[in-house]
Amino acid sequence: MTTQTQTWQGQTMTPLSFKESLGDASVGGVSLAELAKSYGTALYVVDGETLRQACRDYQDTLNQHYTAGHQVVLACKSNFNVGLAKLIASEGLGCDVVSAGELMTAIQAGISGDKIVFNGNLKSEEEIALAIDHNVSRLILDNFDEIERVAKITKAKGVKVNVLARVAPGIECHTHDYIKTGQNDSKFGFPLARVDELLDAVLKHPEELDFKGIHGHVGSQIFELRAYQDLVTIFFTEMDRIRQKYGITLPDLDLGGGWGIAYTHADTPLPIPTLIQTVVEAVKASAEALDYPLPRLLFEPGRSLMARAGVTLYTVGGRKEVEGALPYISVDGGMGDNIRPALYQAEYSACVVSQLGKAVATEAVRVVGKYCESGDVVLRHFEGPRMGNGDLLLIFGTGAYNYTMASTYNRIGRPAMVLVENGKHGLLVERESVQDLLALDRIPSWL
Ligand code: LLP
Repeated sequence: MTTQTQTWQGQTMTPLSFKESLGDASVGGVSLAELAKSYGTALYVVDGETLRQACRDYQDTLNQHYTAGHQVVLACKSNFNVGLAKLIASEGLGCDVVSAGELMTAIQAGISGDKIVFNGNLKSEEEIALAIDHNVSRLILDNFDEIERVAKITKAKGVKVNVLARVAPGIECHTHDYIKTGQNDSKFGFPLARVDELLDAVLKHPEELDFKGIHGHVGSQIFELRAYQDLVTIFFTEMDRIRQKYGITLPDLDLGGGWGIAYTHADTPLPIPTLIQTVVEAVKASAEALDYPLPRLLFEPGRSLMARAGVTLYTVGGRKEVEGALPYISVDGGMGDNIRPALYQAEYSACVVSQLGKAVATEAVRVVGKYCESGDVVLRHFEGPRMGNGDLLLIFGTGAYNYTMASTYNRIGRPAMVLVENGKHGLLVERESVQDLLALDRIPSWL
């Protein structure tokens, strides 16, 4: 007989406001059992305190250590809706959008174009026009086709747009390690070896395109400071070369996102301020060595802002004993609300909220979802108190790339998302109902 607290206590994967009690826990001062009762499960819960603190970790460190200007924009692909947009904007952040949908969500939240950058490797003509109409601060060019497409649209509108160009820096990052590759195999960005061609193509459109700088993104769930230091060094070498050859001093440097978070004990990311201080030191060192004016820095974090703030609450609904394998515990969600285990073999930490503080027998189980697919796994191997029907299971670190990659597979609506903060709770997104799912169906006339 044992209690389960040792499995995550003191670790960095729980939301900052997470508190245990007997047979329950709270986030943002709100009981999870109450949330389950009010909103149903599966349920996404976002802790305002954790999200705000992550925003402040970026902003405060930059304010303190870098005086040449900065902009931190949330990579909206990680988690985004009008309420979350309002929250991050209230912390001074802007948005990195990649679609008309993300752009209009930011606009709907009252975020002005000067706080928005537009990324992505295929922006439609409509999206480019929309971005220009909303005066986004930077359009981030990704490829040669796009240079001409953007130039054509700006010319037709009679406007000039500020652009960055995404350059693949030849650094390839995987979690826990990275390599520098001579050549690049990526669908994103201009190869380093073709930066001059890129410049030549952009400079052909002096009335339409104002070239402000280069952009690089080393990967996602990265723990290596070295990768960012190398990105800075490689880009400054390039910026210096551009200055010498073209006589242009670039005012911006966009270093993308990518910083990792702890999903399990195996993950040990350094705190955000350490990342930012290291990057700022690298930038200052390169600028000084090359006598280059300090650029305005842009960062596009997604996961490191959103992931830890979010948790998913499920209710246990079934159990199956299998000879020679772990028992299966079924919960009322799964790959529809979290595709990451199926897609990336992602691992998560969890606790059985309803058994907290109780001395119960523990066991190893496999937690699976309710979707019709064998790969619908929530936790491949979970050791915790013996679970039965009605128990509440909480998965940590689901705030990034869960809702935004959710599907309606099996015609199961996507869960609601609730914000909790200072004892208050409120919906960010309604649960998708069967009526919502049916609303887009049409019947062709001959049926
Ligand atoms: N900027 C650019 C240009 C990006 O492509 C990305 C992520 C980010 C910023 C934000 O990266 P973050 O700080 O979140 O690592 N679905 C995957 C992650 C895909 C990330 C794609 N690009 C997952 O669930 O792990």
